[in-house]
Amino acid sequence: MNITKIKIKNLFGISEYEADGSSVELAGKNGAGKTSVIDAIRYALTNKSDRKYIVRRGETEGEILIETDNGLRINRKARTTQADYKSVKKDGREVGSPESFLRDIFTTLQLNPVEFIGLPEKQQNAIILDMIEYPWDMQKIKEWFGEIPSWVDYDQNILAVLNDIQSENGEYFQKRQDINREVRNKRAFIEEIARTIPSGYEAEKWEKASAGPVYQKIERIRRENEEIQKAKSLLESRDNKVRKFEADREIAKTSLLREIGHRRTQIENEISRMEDQIRNLKLEKASLSEKMQDKLAVIEKEYEVSVTKYDAEVEAYAEYRDKELQSTKELEEEAAMIESMKAHINEFRRMQILQMDVESLKEESDLLTERIEKARTLPGEILETAKIPIAGLTIKDGIPLINGLPVSNLSDGEKLDLCIDVAIQKPNGLQIILIDGVEKLSTPVREALYKKCKDKGLQFIATRTTDDEDLTVITL
Ligand SMILES: Nc1ncnc2c1ncn2[C@@H]1O[C@H](COP(=O)(O)OP(=O)(O)OP(=O)(O)O)[C@@H](O)[C@H]1O
Ligand SMILES: [Mg+2]
Repeated sequence: MNITKIKIKNLFGISEYEADGSSVELAGKNGAGKTSVIDAIRYALTNKSDRKYIVRRGETEGEILIETDNGLRINRKARTTQADYKSVKKDGREVGSPESFLRDIFTTLQLNPVEFIGLPEKQQNAIILDMIEYPWDMQKIKEWFGEIPSWVDYDQNILAVLNDIQSENGEYFQKRQDINREVRNKRAFIEEIARTIPSGYEAEKWEKASAGPVYQKIERIRRENEEIQKAKSLLESRDNKVRKFEADREIAKTSLLREIGHRRTQIENEISRMEDQIRNLKLEKASLSEKMQDKLAVIEKEYEVSVTKYDAEVEAYAEYRDKELQSTKELEEEAAMIESMKAHINEFRRMQILQMDVESLKEESDLLTERIEKARTLPGEILETAKIPIAGLTIKDGIPLINGLPVSNLSDGEKLDLCIDVAIQKPNGLQIILIDGVEKLSTPVREALYKKCKDKGLQFIATRTTDDEDLTVITL
């Protein structure tokens, strides 16, 4: 909407001023009343003034009237002796909540765009980001991230919100850092365990394996080997044993012969001496050879019994005699291997649990990466589809750049240019810009500024302190 009429009476330093919708430069010396015009319009729109006295000194009532091409009529009267008067009409009818109605049709920067330059950069950035129209709500955040990140201030522009979400100070980033550290530690631990475990380790197999039956086999073989050894040594010693038995026989024979001879001599001696006893002794003598035969038979018998008994023992081990001694070396190695494999089970299981931990941590970290990446790529997507009212605006790390530079890097002229863009944020609002004190700008910058306003179809009222005696209105 455009202003078609401005009428000021007895406000600030002005007694009377009238204008239409054209853009003008108010020129004149200090105190000529230039700023008073702007202040009067500001007062009409905001019902406020930085100046304490609104009514012109000496008067009791000051008045401003603004009319637009779409039927808006703002009429304010400041009074010293009674309450102020206000009338905001649209198509001849008073609007409800006039002050908030007015607040909606302009931005404060329109009334003083140069003020933008003086704002802290953070505020400037916030204002620029706010100009990017992109519809979003908490539901959208939930759709994007599967949840609503709790550490983020949602009372800001979507680009600033996204920047906070992916920020290195944000919980996603911090949490992912913690998880990745834990993954690294666990992996190092797994490697440490893996070094102690044989390659291709089959945990299931070794968990079930038992060395018991192998030991039983070893014991059986050991016992059989003992029997085999006994059999072999019995057979080997037989000749020696028989020889010993022969020797025993010879010794016994010799001793018997000697004993008998001796006794015979004794008896013969006694026969001669004891004739009385001859019959008895003869009898005894007659029985002596028989006695000897009996004893010889006993000796022979003993010999035979010994040999037979030994041979029987040899025969008892006959089944082992021809067998070869078996080795238990392989079985012992097998048992030892089972034992050593079983010893790895606990560490192996621990390693498996750690590996599972790492897998789930990795998944968690990947999800965070996905969300961080989402927050990083969304601004690009948003800027592609959003309505961006400023030429050359890009966003990097949540900060707006104009032609690749942050606001603080722009020249004063470039900043002013930006001010105009920023000031006119309401395309359907009041298309007016008030610029107080353009004498601070160089001629080319000032002219470029006027041109920009014109190109954008904005009505502007600029003031310039000159040496002109009276207030001069230059229509541009
Ligand atoms: N309420 C008021 N009643 C009477 N005179 C006032 C009132 N308010 C301001 N003035 C005077 O009106 C004159 C015009 O002030 P204004 O601020 O409009 O000047 P200016 O043209 O903007 O000057 P400058 O070039 O120095 O900025 C000044 O002399 C000022 O002291
Ligand atoms: Mg002034």
